[in-house]
Amino acid sequence: MKLRVNNKEYSVEVANNPSLLEVLRDKLDLTGTKYGCGEGACGACKVLVNGIPTPSCITPVTSVSGKKVITIEGLAENGELHPVQKVFLEEDVFQCSYCAPGMVITAAALLKKQPDASTQDLIDGLNGNICRCCTYPAIINALKKIIQKEGEQ
Ligand code: FES
Ligand code: FES
Repeated sequence: MKLRVNNKEYSVEVANNPSLLEVLRDKLDLTGTKYGCGEGACGACKVLVNGIPTPSCITPVTSVSGKKVITIEGLAENGELHPVQKVFLEEDVFQCSYCAPGMVITAAALLKKQPDASTQDLIDGLNGNICRCCTYPAIINALKKIIQKEGEQ
């Protein structure tokens, strides 16, 4: 089947309709997307499918045929990190960083949809992303910096 990932066309052979996560990691070598729970509950494996954060572990790969998939590897544009990536790095929000790819993908989509998100909106929007190191306050504070900056412009 054909897949469009990070604005690149791939042709992959898939048997038994594996998950999008398996194909990304094992066939396309895009290992930034992480395997956590494997059942759609932790958010570690989220990627954007037509702009919507989607748990790739429970998404059959055939269901994204003809859709636009963006993984953490494809979020930077023209060599520039996404503002969410930048602020998370600047603020050094993570500990082990296992949740980071899914968190970045989800936060990027959230801020695109709601550039003036309130603290509660951020908490609600990131509800499906688990951080075992409990870095939630740092994540929220970092995202608030982006929102504040946007508001000042
Ligand atoms: S690994 Fe997909 S949601 Fe947890
Ligand atoms: S920083 Fe360790 S899981 Fe989030």
